[in-house]
Amino acid sequence: MQPLTHFGNLPISEFMRDYWQQKPVCIRNAFPNWQPIVAADELAGLSLETEVESRLIENQGDTSQWRLHHGPMTEATFAQQRDYPWTLLVQGVDNFVPEAFDFLAGFRFIPAWRLDDLMISYATKGAGVGAHYDRYDVFLIQGEGSRRWQTGQLCSETAALADHQDLCLLEDFDLQETFDLQPGDLLYLPPLVAHKGVALTDNCMTYSVGFRAPSYSEVFGGFADFISAKLSADVRLTNSNHVQPAGEISAVDITNLKQLISAQLTDENLAQWFGSMSTEPKNPDLDMAEEAMDEDELAAIIDDAYGVLRVAEGVRLAYTWQGDGGLTLFAQGEAIPCPPAAADLAMALANDLIIDVEDLANIATDEASQALLLVLHNQGWLYFDDA
Ligand code: SIN
Ligand code: CO
Repeated sequence: MQPLTHFGNLPISEFMRDYWQQKPVCIRNAFPNWQPIVAADELAGLSLETEVESRLIENQGDTSQWRLHHGPMTEATFAQQRDYPWTLLVQGVDNFVPEAFDFLAGFRFIPAWRLDDLMISYATKGAGVGAHYDRYDVFLIQGEGSRRWQTGQLCSETAALADHQDLCLLEDFDLQETFDLQPGDLLYLPPLVAHKGVALTDNCMTYSVGFRAPSYSEVFGGFADFISAKLSADVRLTNSNHVQPAGEISAVDITNLKQLISAQLTDENLAQWFGSMSTEPKNPDLDMAEEAMDEDELAAIIDDAYGVLRVAEGVRLAYTWQGDGGLTLFAQGEAIPCPPAAADLAMALANDLIIDVEDLANIATDEASQALLLVLHNQGWLYFDDA
């Protein structure tokens, strides 16, 4: 699955140069042959599942009276007649719907470790989630119906919030631009830009491709936890033979401390931690198990040269190079060392997410590659598809 090269007529290289992390942009007909991926009833069906994260926001009365319900929803949620607008929002649709996973793969012109998920919302006419800001970049794509988006000021965590116990709504909204989106149109918003959307039609479906970025505080905390889990309690920081006043913490003490910490700041440690952290699954409880296969079954499939090998929906892969031409493949938070012979396969999986089975005969001929395939397949992280 190759990353997009264009949004409509706009080359991705120009989008990255002129807009990404700089300013909002509305791109009309960004997806010229746009076809919705998930129908409204399928989205409602997903929200009934316990492993799917969903929210329902009801716009009854003024904003302070709006209600937020967390999923899983029930049949009764949708049987209820409402004479006021409402929105259903479903997170992580890419973890459950192969076509949504493929759609998200188009956005891999941004490193995969930044991609968060595909959220899809369904709104009735007049519905909206209110004025707010998000901390990450987001692409808002009109799926069905039409929505009016308005952009506002650049916010920060000091922005005044409206009085609401569940919803983080902005007290003030300084209108900058208005865009009415039709199916296939896209609005890109950099982090912290205030925005609000209101459905202009019933059956208004918005697809949000969301990104994530660890805060500096999470980077420090996460790396420190990773190192601390590796260190033995037997290794201790003590004083040196330098004689100093008892009350003083000396420059030598600080130097020793600095050495102890910087000794852990190796490329290897940083890569191991970052690879594991950035591939941790969003839904760790998802049961991915595929029926285990053995070497002979795998060989038979490769011989058949039919269909595709897919990275399973929701599975995160990334790799870092080792000095010897091999690499470490990170999968769902786990580090899997791959010798040079398996590097092509690991790269193809992490970069392309899908491989024609007939190509496996070229890239997975050796034992190391086949062993890697079996490990990943038997964890349920890869599957063969006849498509
Ligand atoms: C929506 O789809 O209604 C809300 C998306 C957002 O503002 O982030
Ligand atoms: Co938003």
